[in-house]
Amino acid sequence: MLDRLSPQAPDALLALIRLHAADPREDKIDLGVGVYRTETGATPVFAAIKTAEQVLVDTQDSKSYLGPEGDMGFVNALMPYIFGADPTMGGRISGMQTPGGTGAVRLALALALKAGVKRVHMGVPSWPNHAQILADLGMELAPFDHANPDGTANLDAVLAAINGASADEAVLLHACCHNPTGIDYTAEQWAAIATAFAASGTFPIIDSAYQGLGHGMEEDAAGMRAVLAAVPEAFIAYSCDKNFGQYRDRVGAFYVLAKEQGALDTAFSNANALARAGWSMPPDHGGAAVRIILRDPDMTAQWLAELDDMRARMRGVRDALAQAGTAGRIDLTPLAHQNGLFSMLPVTKDEVATLREEHGTYMAASGRINIAGLTPGNLPKFIAALAAVAA
Ligand code: LMR
Repeated sequence: MLDRLSPQAPDALLALIRLHAADPREDKIDLGVGVYRTETGATPVFAAIKTAEQVLVDTQDSKSYLGPEGDMGFVNALMPYIFGADPTMGGRISGMQTPGGTGAVRLALALALKAGVKRVHMGVPSWPNHAQILADLGMELAPFDHANPDGTANLDAVLAAINGASADEAVLLHACCHNPTGIDYTAEQWAAIATAFAASGTFPIIDSAYQGLGHGMEEDAAGMRAVLAAVPEAFIAYSCDKNFGQYRDRVGAFYVLAKEQGALDTAFSNANALARAGWSMPPDHGGAAVRIILRDPDMTAQWLAELDDMRARMRGVRDALAQAGTAGRIDLTPLAHQNGLFSMLPVTKDEVATLREEHGTYMAASGRINIAGLTPGNLPKFIAALAAVAA
């Protein structure tokens, strides 16, 4: 039977982790997969998470099953940060825990499919796993250009997708810190997007994987909240893997905005069934640590301060790149106005390969770089390598 399978290429982003690890060069630079790094290139566990994990070890009295919805204390404690002062929007939002942001996106798309959505409009380029999940579910991807050649977000394209979508279609947007471009919609653009969703009745699916890494927890949620305030129904996929540094612990949540409680109950009866058939229950540890943090004012303040430090460091890298001006033919100044872990450089696949092979500099074939992979120590080398390759 196994001879009926054909070999699959490894996931390109995850393959970069192995390639980089196998490179013996001491001055290699990892700008591949999206993990935050400090000035010394480390990805430490948040101090707030360490404290919460100790509390968890000391107080957890059982590891018995919780159910497909996971730790609802975690799910509910996050809601004011995501949705604001009225976190349930009058009882219209509820959620469940998922294995990471990927689990949340998977659940959102699978539930949309169950509700009759066959085609999803999405700005491209996007996080490659969006397209992979859609393909795996047998859903069609309708791509539109996320950005204009001048580096601004392409409002016309997203409005055309929202206004042109039919009842069996949805539009998938990134809440903030767009992956891979770092180019987010402005507040005015979000307002126009919200109006278009409201007028067209098109169903929004919003992926929020980087809240707090752009301009702040509140600032990064504002666009998504504008959409939610305008529409009767939406799905939100959320990840704590970056803003709590929980990567391998897989901490995510899936939220539904519905017209009323009965619709929410029906949606979650379906979402629970999908989760049960997919992963049964989410892993508990990371979500429990987040719950412990968010129920404790001191730990919450510590977490937010750590997030502020991450964001400030990435702003510093962006500013330093912009101050360098150009590297070869590459204009680095737009990176100062982009957000989050990622930006894209206009380099060819061949140039990406040369940067890797000759300069030990690893980035996605698309030209996406992880801003946090740059440090005061390696930034001059990176700019020099880029200038040499992209002459
Ligand atoms: C990334 O885009 O690098 C991250 O979101 C990690 C992942 O799962 O792809």
